[in-house]
Amino acid sequence: MNHDLRTVMRHFATGVCVVSTFADGADGRRHDAITVNSLTSVSLDPAIITVCFRHDSRFLADLRAAGVWGVSILDSESEAHARAFAKGPESRQTALAGAAHSIGDTTGVLLLQAAGWMEVAYRDELVIGDHVMVIGEVVALGAADSTAPLIFLQGGFHTLDELSRL
Ligand SMILES: Cc1cc2nc3c(=O)[nH]c(=O)nc-3n(C[C@H](O)[C@H](O)[C@H](O)COP(=O)(O)O)c2cc1C
Repeated sequence: MNHDLRTVMRHFATGVCVVSTFADGADGRRHDAITVNSLTSVSLDPAIITVCFRHDSRFLADLRAAGVWGVSILDSESEAHARAFAKGPESRQTALAGAAHSIGDTTGVLLLQAAGWMEVAYRDELVIGDHVMVIGEVVALGAADSTAPLIFLQGGFHTLDELSRL
């Protein structure tokens, strides 16, 4: 093989979302959120999705403990969120403080203003190589009307408008 997996998969366009969860401590609830593009819709009935995380992800440890997480599907205006939530925990806290959001009625997870959103309950997980695939059941969801998506392709963020001019 003269190409590695990353070199090939950079040609596979995906959407971009921010997943959130929380940790409850003595000081109250601390929300956290990270950028992911491994979201997959697996089953419609019941509504099941998966997201993959590095097995040593700190975010994953919080998600397991909380047993719930949120998904906010980013629109074409939200590249700054995609970049901010791919950074370290301190930068993410700053980004969360400045981002328009709401708290999900069903699970208490944080949801960004987004093209679509889901509240998800942990069901199971599979360790696959250096990642963990987390399987979750969607317990609440909603979407905005016909919002243009943010696209991740060839290592960068794009919009449909910009790609259609290529
Ligand atoms: C476009 C994009 C997609 C990403 N997708 C994932 C993903 O699917 N799973 C993941 O674990 N990290 C993903 N990341 C990286 C996380 O956003 C980032 O590493 C995060 O800081 C991990 O935090 P943690 O180590 O504190 O858990 C992605 C980053 C970018 C920019």
